[in-house]
Amino acid sequence: MKKLYVTTPIYYVNDLPHIGHLYTTIVADVIARYRRGKGDDVRFHTGTDEHGQKIERAAAAQGLAPKALADRVVARYHAWWKTLAITHDDFIRTTEERHARGVIALIARLEAAGDLYTARHEGWYCTACEAYYTEKELQPGNLCPDHGTPCAWQAEENVFFRLSKYQQPLLDFYRSHPDFVVPASRAHEVISFVESGLRDLSVSRTNLTWGIPFPGHPGHVVYVWLDALTNYISSLGFGSDDDSRYRRYWEDPGGERVHLVGKDILRFHAVYWPAFLLSAGLPLPTRVAAHGWWLRDEKKMSKSTGNVVRPDALVASFGPDALRYFLLREMVFGADASFSDEAFLERYNADLANGLGNAVSRVVRLCVNAYGSTPPVPCDDNEIRTASLPAAAGYAEAFDRFEFSRGLEAISGMLKAVDGFVAARQPWKIAREEGTSDGLSRILYASAEGTRIAAAALSPVIPHAAPRALALLGADPSDGPGTLGWGRLPVGKPLSPAEPLFPRVDARQFFEEARPMTEPAPAATPDAAPRITIEEFQKVELRTAKILAASPVPKSKKLMRLEVDLGSERRQIVAGIATRYAAEALVGRTVIVVANLQPARLMGLESDGMVLAASLAESGEPVILVPEADVPPGTRVK
Ligand code: MSP
Repeated sequence: MKKLYVTTPIYYVNDLPHIGHLYTTIVADVIARYRRGKGDDVRFHTGTDEHGQKIERAAAAQGLAPKALADRVVARYHAWWKTLAITHDDFIRTTEERHARGVIALIARLEAAGDLYTARHEGWYCTACEAYYTEKELQPGNLCPDHGTPCAWQAEENVFFRLSKYQQPLLDFYRSHPDFVVPASRAHEVISFVESGLRDLSVSRTNLTWGIPFPGHPGHVVYVWLDALTNYISSLGFGSDDDSRYRRYWEDPGGERVHLVGKDILRFHAVYWPAFLLSAGLPLPTRVAAHGWWLRDEKKMSKSTGNVVRPDALVASFGPDALRYFLLREMVFGADASFSDEAFLERYNADLANGLGNAVSRVVRLCVNAYGSTPPVPCDDNEIRTASLPAAAGYAEAFDRFEFSRGLEAISGMLKAVDGFVAARQPWKIAREEGTSDGLSRILYASAEGTRIAAAALSPVIPHAAPRALALLGADPSDGPGTLGWGRLPVGKPLSPAEPLFPRVDARQFFEEARPMTEPAPAATPDAAPRITIEEFQKVELRTAKILAASPVPKSKKLMRLEVDLGSERRQIVAGIATRYAAEALVGRTVIVVANLQPARLMGLESDGMVLAASLAESGEPVILVPEADVPPGTRVK
């Protein structure tokens, strides 16, 4: 039995989870489920990173103590992990006592190795990264290379870690462990960073108090990254009286220790963390796997950009499995991927509704009609069995290499083979014209067994639907990645007709209803919504606009196409106001529009702006906002 310890980054508590965060955790969960399914001894940890300037400031902005903010955000993380059926074995918070013990124990080892010293430190600091940058690294205007936000000059006396001493040992380690960082393209980045020279790292801070007090240095707290990285061992009990779990999962020479991270935090995991561990004389992780970013409108989704996809609406409409599947299928692990509502719906319909869902309903219906049970005579020699071997092998090989999209593609291929087989053999026709026979049973058995193998393979990704699919097929609902061999489907087991697993969604109707999947970031606490500055408000360009023409959008109950005069230009805006206003009633009226909104497409029409409206309390119908006196079109609204 192989041992696997798999971790996600621990998430900052200044933000609520968005799909960028959920992705890593879902990937870790899929790996954990996949490996457990193969019989391995798996431990899976996640958690939250609660110290540092970023959290201190976010809490202050909301008028909360940092721990109170953390508690609220942590509750949201727990709720999400439950909804998404995340099977983590532990959730560590860096504000826990057991974590502080681990950090202190690690620092004691760095100290004993002679790798800590005190010196004055000056530099450009980015609070969002919680890291110093050199002038060379900054963008013009002293902007952070990652966030594009201004860095502040900070000077303080710090405890330093002799990172420079580990430059060569790290390079030697990378050379002898070529798969330490995956994908390979990212490994090259790490190696060239280390080859370009490592400077010692300041590992204490004096300009804040929200952190773990640095042992032996009153007034200093532990640098948040040294603090956070230690979670991977403190959560196993490192530094505690009972460290048996730590020894089992971190010190086992044959064990795998895998950190999943986004590419933006690779350096911390592939350079600083191994250097701390080398200094402490502790084993290193065996793999750091870096994934790309989820983008929206070509930009990384992040709270500061305000372009996040919150998963609430997606999960409410399509269920947690659809989100899990989409995220794994759509992103090539390592590369960036773009989120779009259209891609989500397309994938849902193609792979889940028409793919697995349709295969299950069709095969079950055929079996029920012919036998009222799974087919009585098994089949072990036909093209579906032949197709299942490379599909299962391709899936396993891809999942072992974290190439989830490729693995899922292999399973879709398998389902297509079943679909083609059923279409070609026409078992319904055989049943009608010739009645039941061994030949018919074999055809149906092969179709059902092929579908069972696909459902079992998908079980780590769609943990709610796969057991249901398996039960409907008459198979063991706990079948999974360890049971992809042919012939497990029992014969003659009574079956009932299947309800659709993934009802098809009419994309056009869905968009007509215009349920927003991209939601504004909700405040961590509704009662303490953060205030915005006047500068932030001024970024929204509100202007008066005169409606020159209006026509209802065909096939839509809600949408109205408007041509508006914005003073210096004319624009087309598609507004969701048709339930209350007739086109004629709108022409000539002056409304208020958001003029600097990114254009969007609604029912195939470009909408270049947004009309402001309030909603009626009872019916929710839109009520347009109009100026109280005449103002020329294009006037700025402040
Ligand atoms: N607290 C640190 C990690 C410490 S680990 C010892 C941190 N937290 S974070 O909340 O900002 O980010 C956590 C993870 O979410 C990172 O791996 C980051 O790459 C990932 N993502 C944040 N936005 C993302 C996308 N838009 N897309 C994909 N993942 C992204 O960093």
